Amino acid sequence: MTMKIDAGKTSLDGRVAIVTGAGMGMGEATARLMAARGARVVLADVNAQAVEAVAASIRDAGGDAVATVANVADEVAVAAMVAFTVGHYGRLDCAVNNAAISPDNAMIADADMDVFDRVISVNLRGVMLCMKYQIAQLLKQGGTGSIVNIGSVSSVRPQPYNAAYTAAKHGVIGLTKVGSLEYAGRGIRVNAVLPGSIRTPMLERALGDADLREEDFAPSLSLFGRFGEPGEVAEASAWLCSDAASFVTGHSLAVDAGYLTR
Ligand SMILES: NC(=O)c1ccc[n+]([C@@H]2O[C@H](COP(=O)([O-])OP(=O)(O)OC[C@H]3O[C@@H](n4cnc5c(N)ncnc54)[C@H](O)[C@@H]3O)[C@@H](O)[C@H]2O)c1
Repeated sequence: MTMKIDAGKTSLDGRVAIVTGAGMGMGEATARLMAARGARVVLADVNAQAVEAVAASIRDAGGDAVATVANVADEVAVAAMVAFTVGHYGRLDCAVNNAAISPDNAMIADADMDVFDRVISVNLRGVMLCMKYQIAQLLKQGGTGSIVNIGSVSSVRPQPYNAAYTAAKHGVIGLTKVGSLEYAGRGIRVNAVLPGSIRTPMLERALGDADLREEDFAPSLSLFGRFGEPGEVAEASAWLCSDAASFVTGHSLAVDAGYLTR
């Protein structure tokens, strides 16, 4: 008997998706890929100009996308982001909670607690808030849906000089697992993607601040000796949002060129 492969399962045709931090980097690439796979995408970001430009360029390419300005650390703004999505597209099916910042660069004894609080509020509280309002909406619709939280290789491997970022990203895995346990019975899948070193404005800033060059640094961070492209991470998030990942929940998928195997 020959097996029929159903290539259609990775399609996101007609699905309504939210991508946070979609103004640049991996969020931008994820929004572009999901729109190309047929999703109707709400791009959310604190950077109004950037996110509106990305949404406009997706529409110019024939995709269905709209921008909204939202700070994921702000509960009122996150509630409004989900309400905007439902107002615009009528429902929500999936979300990629990608927005984060990485400003800390001091050892613990020298830590600036304002920076610590800011990182925790965007990178951890922001993911919690997004899950809270997105899952509430999925439940209101009767359940089913897929949430993807963007962690980091720092979610499992601590980085010195990065206490707040490391703690927040470890917490993202905790939130992901609790979400998967609590809502599996309602058909809601919750997973995390853990990027390695990916060529985005965030990484370029980090390299610039430390006066490092990609060619010196990449071999120790990737078995392929190169940084990843934002689109390579977007593929994992889009897959987890799709029906192709229907038996996957509570998982943390590293997209890191084998960095965590060492
Ligand atoms: N670049 C890497 O190498 C790398 C590695 C591991 C994990 N990550 C994670 O991947 C995700 C994307 O990172 P990136 O490199 O594309 O970052 P980036 O800095 O290039 O882009 C982040 C986007 O998020 C937006 N943003 C920041 N704070 C926000 C807030 N409070 N509310 C809404 N939007 C906000 C920014 O305006 C920006 O558009 C983050 O969760 C990051 O921690 C990145």
